[in-house]
Amino acid sequence: MRGNQAPLLTRIFSTDTGTTASTSTQENATQIVSNLQNQTTRTGTHDNQQVHRNKKKEKRFNEARNKRRKLIGLAKAMDHGQPGIVTYQLPRHSETKDYLAASGLPDRTRPFTVLGIESSCDDTGAAVVRSDGVILGEALASQGDIHEQWGGVVPGLARDAHEDAIDRIVDLAVERAGFSSIQEIDAIGVTIGPGLEICLRVGATKARELAQTFQKPFVGVHHLEAHILMARLPLEEASPSTATTNNFVFPATDLVHETVRTMQFPFLALLVSGGHCQIMKCLDIGKYSIIGGTLDDSLGEAYDKVARLLGLPVGGGGGPAVEALAKQGDPTAVPLPIPLRNRKDCDFSFAGLKTAVRRAAEKICDTEMDGNLEDLLTDQDKANIAASFQNVAIKHIEQRLERAMKMVEQEEQEQGGSKIRSLAVVGGVAANQELRARLETLCERCSSSQDNDDDEEDRWKMFVPPPRLCTDQGSMSAWAAIERIMVGSTDDPTSRDVYARYPFSLEHEAK
Ligand code: KG4
Ligand code: ZN
Repeated sequence: MRGNQAPLLTRIFSTDTGTTASTSTQENATQIVSNLQNQTTRTGTHDNQQVHRNKKKEKRFNEARNKRRKLIGLAKAMDHGQPGIVTYQLPRHSETKDYLAASGLPDRTRPFTVLGIESSCDDTGAAVVRSDGVILGEALASQGDIHEQWGGVVPGLARDAHEDAIDRIVDLAVERAGFSSIQEIDAIGVTIGPGLEICLRVGATKARELAQTFQKPFVGVHHLEAHILMARLPLEEASPSTATTNNFVFPATDLVHETVRTMQFPFLALLVSGGHCQIMKCLDIGKYSIIGGTLDDSLGEAYDKVARLLGLPVGGGGGPAVEALAKQGDPTAVPLPIPLRNRKDCDFSFAGLKTAVRRAAEKICDTEMDGNLEDLLTDQDKANIAASFQNVAIKHIEQRLERAMKMVEQEEQEQGGSKIRSLAVVGGVAANQELRARLETLCERCSSSQDNDDDEEDRWKMFVPPPRLCTDQGSMSAWAAIERIMVGSTDDPTSRDVYARYPFSLEHEAK
């Protein structure tokens, strides 16, 4: 990604996609300027009109380039929390406007089924989920092996792998769900952003073709909302093995649907993935208020970079390998600073911690040579570094989250309104057992610090999807589409848009 990595080796959706775009834009600019110069030399004239036209053309180009540059890293800039100021909304929904059922709705008085497709990064996922939360069938093609040798996700290779896998994965999910044709499924949902644009396009094109061919309602899913909403999936039903035997079927009225959700709005969410690290107040479907975000790297990115430093497998994300190695290490062995310790807000920063990890590793090896630290460190050194990094990274999360929880409580005391005592922990890193355990303890600690800690209503409860549903897969698109359909919102499948950056509220800027 950055630093020692070649620019192509990109895992992050926002900044790196932007950097790639900017590089090619720069090349184009150089090309245009050189073409303009050639033209002038060839004619050998000083045709004022032509020079003037060229200048105007160059000015327009530069303006467009500068405008585009402003978008670089926007998703991360948007991560930066501004308490109480910004409310993020899905496109086409505002305070004054109802949701649009742009491609119709299935019959919501009985359970309906949705095919969900996900291809935003390096996993091709598809699943059929029933409106009561039962995952009927799912299939996933991970590209870990393909990207392993590059040390990160290579967008072009990822796109090719999605293209190779998409038909097979969709067919497999449909077959596993017990359907013989997509005609039997009631609606289709697909991730349309944020993510790697060329990868998003593979899934989005497939889903839109299917929706149009079979005349099904279509939902373009926001990837971050999909991660968040997984915390509302009825948990018992999260395993395909229970789907065939369970009889958890009921009329899908709005009321029943809301009450059987694992957690109700409003709630607090910690979203920790490869591309994002945010704390949000989740107010309703499509309505999120960001109260903390990352100033630089995401937590998943930090795990991936530490994995690379230690020479661990990073193909499908380095987090699981760091977590596994950390179990063998001493979390207090390597002193590392807790980021933003004295900053009184809910933002995150992991770039300094990553550098501190590298420095600590260099110190252990007594060398400042780049690159081959992994060969110089003993296995126990590596385990200690992994454990110490994980310990401090999670401490940072705990501190920021505790502040957010206190903020929410204080706001409620000062302004009244709905009580928030539910915490959703979502995104790929939420699969991490140490993080799950420590945040569970944090919820207990914050509950017992309440005056009336006997009151069940005042206790903080944590909701986290099963690990396999924390990382990217097809069920998240299907379930997010179900949630959108239940509030009466679907999209037009004839649009071709996908969004590399997809801030919740900036429909006009994202285009
Ligand atoms: O949500 P996700 O699958 O993709 C994005 O939307 O980014 O998250 C992937 C990230 C990767 O950075 C990966 O290393 C991290 O989640 N991750 C983990 C674990 N499993 C996945 N990090 C720490 N511990 C884990 N067990
Ligand atoms: Zn994700």
